[in-house]
Amino acid sequence: MPAQLGANTLGPGHAIKRLAKKKRYSSHTHPWVLQQMRIIYNEYSYLETTRNLIGNGIFTLLRNPDALVELRSDDGLWPAAVEELLRYESPVQAFSRGVTAELEVEGTRLPAGSSIVFMIGAAHRDARQYADPDRLDLRRPHNRHLAFGGDAHVCLGSTLARLEGRLSMRAVTRRFPNLRLVDEKADWGTNFGFRGLNTLRVQL
Ligand code: HEM
Repeated sequence: MPAQLGANTLGPGHAIKRLAKKKRYSSHTHPWVLQQMRIIYNEYSYLETTRNLIGNGIFTLLRNPDALVELRSDDGLWPAAVEELLRYESPVQAFSRGVTAELEVEGTRLPAGSSIVFMIGAAHRDARQYADPDRLDLRRPHNRHLAFGGDAHVCLGSTLARLEGRLSMRAVTRRFPNLRLVDEKADWGTNFGFRGLNTLRVQL
């Protein structure tokens, strides 16, 4: 971001508004950049998703004590564990695309103007792609998931999210060796696209 914007900024939203008001687009104020900034500063993009990775992850690990024991004894397992937790309880369950020109997908005609919803949470339980998909397997080989989308619009914050997820879940599980669930029953939120817990009650 240009230095003069940073200096006069009252907060991220303020910076975006100022950028959006600029008439002359430079490489910094191109509409695509503004769109990316809106997504980045939208709390759903970075807060809700990462919060859900951590909450869903801790919940899943507490429900799978053997996996937690394994993680506590092998620090090197964390990166793969984060990938499996992203697959197993994906913070983003679905995203959509608009069809700009008529096309056919496996025999179904999709007219221009229609929408496609990709149910990635369901795809992550597809046995054709993942062996024994309902099992949490922290050592799952070739764990190619879609938790961060893919292709041209793949998540820009995935590296940060993976790091935040790994460090925070590792810190919590280390700091509280007796951590356990107060209630095995999950209190899931009802948002269609984002999967996360309303509350996670634990005993330290
Ligand atoms: C566990 C945490 C996260 C998950 C699961 C996640 C998931 C996703 C998914 C599935 C998409 C693609 C949506 C689509 O194709 O329609 C996406 C896009 C995006 N994410 Fe994330 N995200 C996470 C964290 C973050 C963070 C921390 C940031 C920023 C700091 C971020 C910024 C973005 C941006 C800018 C895009 C749009 C990319 C584009 O359209 O080119 N995300 N994210």
